[in-house]
Amino acid sequence: MRASYLPAFRKRYLAVIAIASITGCGSGDGPLIAGSGVLVSDFDSIQANIFTPVCSNCHIGATAPLGLRLDAGNSYDLLVGRASVQQSGLLRVAPGNPDSSYLMRKLDGSASVGGQMPLGAPPLAQAEIDVVRQWIASGAPRSPTPAPQDPLRVTSLDPLPDSTVPMLPMTVTAIFDRELNAASVDETTFLVVRSGGDGTFTDGNEVSVFPDSVDVPLVNPRTAVFDMSGTAPVEDDYRVTLTGTGPAVIQDLDANALDGEFSGTFPSGDGTEGGNFVADFSVAGVQPTLLSIQDNVFTPVCAGCHSGPTSNDAADLPSGMDLSSLSLSFMSLVSVSSLQNGAVERVEPGNPDDSYLIRKLEGTASVGGQMPLGGPALDQATIDVIRQWISDGAAM
Ligand code: HEC
Ligand code: HEC
Repeated sequence: MRASYLPAFRKRYLAVIAIASITGCGSGDGPLIAGSGVLVSDFDSIQANIFTPVCSNCHIGATAPLGLRLDAGNSYDLLVGRASVQQSGLLRVAPGNPDSSYLMRKLDGSASVGGQMPLGAPPLAQAEIDVVRQWIASGAPRSPTPAPQDPLRVTSLDPLPDSTVPMLPMTVTAIFDRELNAASVDETTFLVVRSGGDGTFTDGNEVSVFPDSVDVPLVNPRTAVFDMSGTAPVEDDYRVTLTGTGPAVIQDLDANALDGEFSGTFPSGDGTEGGNFVADFSVAGVQPTLLSIQDNVFTPVCAGCHSGPTSNDAADLPSGMDLSSLSLSFMSLVSVSSLQNGAVERVEPGNPDDSYLIRKLEGTASVGGQMPLGGPALDQATIDVIRQWISDGAAM
C-alpha cells in the first residue's frame, strides 16, 4: 500500500516518525538517547535530524526564504552570528543566548513576524526544540571534525534501523560523518533487498530492489540517497547494506573506507576501516486499528490542527476536535455528533458510509473542506483502512 502524499509531505511524515521513535515523544515522554547519533545537542545531529529533513525542502537554493539556506553545506554559516531579516535587532543564533536567538522564536511560535517554523506543518516536538536550545546555550559550536585519517562512519539512516513504516519510502538516506567520494557510492556499494516475505535474508528467495538512482547530492555531500520511487511498494522486511569490505567500498574524499559494523547504535563502526553496514526496516502498512491509524495518520497528519482542547462549538474547529492521542481521538470521534452536520456521528461504529470522518476524508461532506485541509488528500487505500476499522466496530 502506497500513499500518494506529495514528496515534501511524505518527508516530514517520515521525519516525525523517526524522531518520535527515538525521543519517545508522541507515545509518552521518553528521554533523548544520548549518543544514539539521532537527536543530540550537537550541530551535525540537529542538521541531520531537523534542518535537513524538516526545513531544507523550503530553505534551500537561490529561492530560500529570506536567504536562509538550511542545507548541510550552508546552514551553520547562515545561522550563527547572522542577523535575522525579519527582526534585524536579533541574531538568528546568538551563541550562548537562546532567548535572544530569533531561530528559537520561529521554532516556538513567539516570533513577532511571520509563521511558526516549519511553516504549514506541525511544530517540532518540545523535546526537539529543547535540543536546539541546549546547543545554542552551550555556545552553538560546530561539531568536531573527525581527523582525516579516521575511518568513515554512518551517523544515521532514514528510515531508522528496526523501524516499521506504513509505506515504502521513496528513498533510503544514509548520513555519514563527513563528505563522501561520490564516485564510490553506486548500486554496487549501496544495496537494498527485501526478504521475499519470510523475514529472513539468508534462504535465497530475497528480492533485490533496483534503484532509480543512487546519489550523493551536491547540496549535501555527506549523504547517500537510494531512490526507489519507481519500486512496487511491497509490504515486507527490507535490508539496507552499505559496503565497507569487498572489491567496491564506500569512501570519503581521503580514500578512507567505510567503517561499517553496526550494532544498533550510531555512529557505525569498530574504529578500523572496513566492514559492511547492515540495517533492516519493515513496511507493514497502516492497520485497521485505532493505534495504527493514530500513529500513521492522526498524529503526523491531523494533530497539528486538531490539537485540543475539546469544544462543542463548531467555531472552535479544528482545535475543538482533539486528535492528538489515542484516547483523545477515541473520545473525540466514536459516537460523537459532528459539529458541522449534527445529523451524523463523526464515527458511527459499523457504518463508515454515515460516518462524517469518512466524508471529510473523501471530500463528500456538505460543509467545509476535504481533510487534511490544504494538504494532499489521503490515498484511498489508507481511507479504506479507516473504513475497515469503523466497519469492524471502531474499537479503541
Ligand atoms: C513550507 C516552507 C518552510 C518550511 C518547511 C520552513 N520554513 Fe522557515 N520560513 C519560510 C518562510 C516562507 C519564511 C518567511 C515568512 C515567515 O516567517 O512566515 C521563513 C522564515 C524563517 C526564519 C526567519 C529568518 C530571518 O532571517 O528572519 C527562520 C529562522 C526560519 N524560517 C527557520 C526555519 C526552520 C528552522 C525550519 C525547520 C524547522 C523552517 N524554517 C521550515 C518557509 C519555511
Ligand atoms: C490545516 C489544518 C487542518 C488539518 C491538517 C486537518 N484539519 Fe480537519 N478541520 C480543519 C478545519 C479548519 C475544520 C473546520 C472547517 C472545515 O471543515 O473546512 C476541520 C474540520 C474537520 C472535521 C469536521 C468535524 C465536525 O465536528 O464536523 C473532521 C471530521 C476533520 N476535520 C477531520 C480531520 C482529519 C481526520 C484530519 C487528518 C487526516 C484533519 N482533519 C486534518 C483543519 C484541519
